[in-house]
Amino acid sequence: KFEKIWLVFGIISLIVFLSIVGVTAFSHDHHPSGGTDTIDPKKVDQTAPFDNPGVTQIDEDTYQVAIVASAFSYAPLELRVPAGKEIIFKVTSKDVVHSFTIDDTKVNMMVVPGQITTRAYTFEKPGKYLILCNEYCGTGHHFMFTEIEVH
Ligand code: CUA
Repeated sequence: KFEKIWLVFGIISLIVFLSIVGVTAFSHDHHPSGGTDTIDPKKVDQTAPFDNPGVTQIDEDTYQVAIVASAFSYAPLELRVPAGKEIIFKVTSKDVVHSFTIDDTKVNMMVVPGQITTRAYTFEKPGKYLILCNEYCGTGHHFMFTEIEVH
């Protein structure tokens, strides 16, 4: 009789354990404003949102910006976002490690092939901000930069 109780207890513990693991794994996947996810670096162009990189409005106060870094540029070339709204940057690399660093801000993201790095930022002031690569990535490293226009 005792064995049966222990068996039931064991099964319940297993279920509880598995649901905790499941919930943890699930919530790990859902971090809209910060963290990393994995991606196949060879399939960046076919994987959303990088199949159509650029600015997407999510809701009234939130915009997502998908960026693909590769030696030695960022795609897309044109970036325009509003000031005072939350901008969620999602960046990945197709080749080697780069960075996505926005001058004069706290945004300094490491861009690693196989990973999607996410970082939320709100620009307080309109203007043109320089985006540059801070990680040495090869001969064109010093020419790897672009601009984001905040309006
Ligand atoms: Cu890309 Cu340095």
